[in-house]
Parts: sequence; C-alpha cells; structure tokens
Amino acid sequence: MANDSVSIHGIWASRWIFILAATGSAVGLGNIWKFPYMAGVYGGGAFVLVYLICIAMIGVPIMLAETVIGRRGRQSPVNAMRSLALQSGASPRWSLAALMGMVTGLLILSFYSVVAGWSLDYIIGMGRGEFAGIDGAGAGARFGALTADPWRLTLWHSLFLLVTAFIIARGVVAGLERSLRIMMPMLFVLLLVLLGYSLTTGHFGDGLKFLFHFDLAEVPDGILAAMGHAFFTLSVGVGSIMVFGAYMPKKSSIGATVMTVGLLDTVVALTAGMALFPIVFAAGLEPGGGPGLMFVTLPIAFGNIALGQLFGLLFFILVAVAAWSSAISMLEPAVAYWVERSGRSRALVTGVIAALCWVVGMGTVLSFNVLADARFFVSDADGWHLFRWTTEGGKTLFDSIDYLTSRIMLPLGGLLFAVFAGWVMGRDVVRAELSLRHPWMFPVIYWLLRVVAPVGVTIVFVAELLK
Ligand code: PHE
Ligand code: NA
Repeated sequence: MANDSVSIHGIWASRWIFILAATGSAVGLGNIWKFPYMAGVYGGGAFVLVYLICIAMIGVPIMLAETVIGRRGRQSPVNAMRSLALQSGASPRWSLAALMGMVTGLLILSFYSVVAGWSLDYIIGMGRGEFAGIDGAGAGARFGALTADPWRLTLWHSLFLLVTAFIIARGVVAGLERSLRIMMPMLFVLLLVLLGYSLTTGHFGDGLKFLFHFDLAEVPDGILAAMGHAFFTLSVGVGSIMVFGAYMPKKSSIGATVMTVGLLDTVVALTAGMALFPIVFAAGLEPGGGPGLMFVTLPIAFGNIALGQLFGLLFFILVAVAAWSSAISMLEPAVAYWVERSGRSRALVTGVIAALCWVVGMGTVLSFNVLADARFFVSDADGWHLFRWTTEGGKTLFDSIDYLTSRIMLPLGGLLFAVFAGWVMGRDVVRAELSLRHPWMFPVIYWLLRVVAPVGVTIVFVAELLK
C-alpha cells in the first residue's frame, strides 16, 4: 500500500478528530482512578514530579513516534510496521513489536473492563442513594460485597465490553468518531463541574499542597511506578495511538497535535487530583488508601458532604465515559489488523476478539473471589514459586496482568516503537511527518526519541529487574 493512500478503515474528518480520539484513548481510568491513588500511595508531590518528567522526556516522544509510524504506514500497526520496515530495508520482524503491543492492548482491556464495570455498579448505587451517611466500614463492606460476587462482576464486565465492541463494530467514522464527539465534551464538562464542586469544600488548598509539596526522600520509591504509569496514561506501547495516527488526514502537523494530546492528558490527571483530594480531605479521610481510593474512600466522602451523592453520581458517569473512550482504543489495533488480514467483516472480527477479551477478563473477575488464593510470583519461606495456592504474598491474576502489562510490556513496546522511528525510518521521513513549527524543535525531539527515551526505559527496566 502506498504511503499517500488512505487506510481501508476510514479517515478522520480533521486533525481535531484525531485529537479527540487520542485524548479519549489517553484520558481514562489511568487519570481518574490510578493517578490519584498512586500519588496518594507514593506521597504526592515527589511522585507527581517524576511522573511529569517521564511524560515530557519519554512518553510524549514515544507518542510522536507512534503517530508518525501510523500515519506513514496507513494500516493497522502490525502491517504498518511490516511495510515501513521493508521500505527501509529493515527486517519485517519489526512487526512483532506491534503484534506484542496488540496483545498488550487486549490484555489491558480484559481487566480494564472489569474495573470500569465497578463504576457502572457505583452509578446505580449513587443514583439509588445507597451512600447517604455511609461510614468507612459500610463503604468497605459495599465494595467487598461487589468484588466477592462473581455474578455481579460478570454482569458489569459483560455490559462494558458489549458497548465497547458495539462502537468498534460500527467503524472508524460511524462508531468511533461519532461516539467521541459526544463522549469527550461530556467528559470535560463533568470534570469541570467536579472541580468547581471541590473548590466549595473549603479544602482545596490541602489538596493542592498534597499534590505539589515534595520531599526528595520520597522520590526513589515511586520512580518505577511513575514511569510505568506514564506509559499507561498516555496509551503508548500498545499501538492505540499508532492506529489512530493511520486515520489522520495527510495535511496536519503531527508535532503540535500530539503535544496537545499529551498536555490534555496531564491536565486531566492533575485536575482529577485537584478535584478529588479536597473531597477526601473534607470528609476527614486519608489519601493513601491505594486502589480503593475511588471505590471506598471517595464514596464515603460523597456520602457525607452536601450534595455529595449528586456529584458522586456525576463522578462515576465521568469515570465510565472516560473508560469507554479508552477501551475502544485498546480494541482497534487488533480489529484493524484482523480485518486487513482476513478480509472479513468488521462486525464479525470485533465480536470474536471482544469475546476473547471477555474470557480473559473472567480471570480477573474470579481473581477477586473464587480464585483469590491463586497467586503468581510468590516468594515465601521455602523459596520462589511461579504459582501457588496461598493467602499470603504473591500477586492475584488481576495484579499479575496489570503488573506485566504496565511495568513490562508497555515500556518494551514503547522502546521498540521509539527505536523504530528514531533509527529505522530515516530522519527526513520523521521530520516531514512531524512538521514542527520551529526549526529548533526537531533536533530536540529527535534526540529525545533516539537517545533519551530508549535509554530512560532501559535504565528503569534494569532497575526493575534488580529490585
Ligand atoms: N491511557 C488509558 C488510561 O489512562 C489506558 C490505556 C492504556 C488506553 C493503553 C489504551 C492503551 O486509562
Ligand atoms: Na491517561
């Protein structure tokens, strides 16, 4: 397929739709659920600082690389990388990087759908007023009852995936573009409403202080986590941004467009933090509660402050919308690839792949109840075990998939994409695709892409292995 042609899957109406799609992909549970709780666990400001550095020096350059590869290749990530590699006289095996990314995306989707499903359950709960005056024990028990019930989890997981698959099956323009035009404005309005609300709690300053104060002594602990999260939050390393790049109109500048997306994702994460921490503090609670922050701590807060349940309802709607606009981007690379490969209808291909994700996601569903004692990577008194039935230590299936994808597969995928764009594709091609406004910017970005990002990822990798 020639480079100036259009992908067989469609093309966005303008570069703005690419911004909507890529921002929709980027902004998700990562910003609203993971970022605030990780900032909470790792002590706030120090984590935030490392995170921002990773976004700017590693995440955004890799995002640029993905978009360049996608638009130049005009096909699904796997086929784009294969044909670009062949054109540059490199090995077609480079497409394996995209294949791994594709699998990573599906693995993430499998558990993302389960967690997003919780927010659907909480929409109903808030709507029904179940949280009025709830205390810590009550909120903990409600969350515990949800995760202990495989049927209820299965219901929400299925519903979430079904809607995701429906949007993807309708195609790039009728499905993705149309739903994004509704979801994204809604997301921003809801976020601003929540921010406004948290300004009225009287604890806004405490929230800010928590997010931006920092203590150098706390930095080391959070570095690995911050970098893994930078990949996750920007959706890089999967091919989601790459596949959306393939639908980008030829005439638009990738540089400015992608930097806008990176900035928006960061702004949303910080805004989510600024909106949520004051609510947590207003209710006299602690921000360090881990993954339960959104499903235990916040609901207590919402249940005990004025108009809390109304805003709690809006909040969980926000979470669900953000999760859907991300979930579709995890599915698209695989669907586009399989349509290209098999020539079958998009609807059929989507159905099959979504069903596969559903099955894998059932592993996550069961990891909270029936399989809660099935642990991986266990090290205990009598040595190290890949798998063991135990109630102490190790990771559940859900934790394992999350860990494997965020800490290993995403950085590895991102590293390969950066090296491909930086060392295989050729300087002139990359420069032309980026079409940056100021002449000094290209050398800087190209250097980040070729040297800083790969070296940064490698260092963190090695540190992770030695840990
Ligand atoms: N960026 C999304 C979030 O922050 C998650 C995601 C990861 C989406 C990988 C696509 C690919 O929630
Ligand atoms: Na994100």
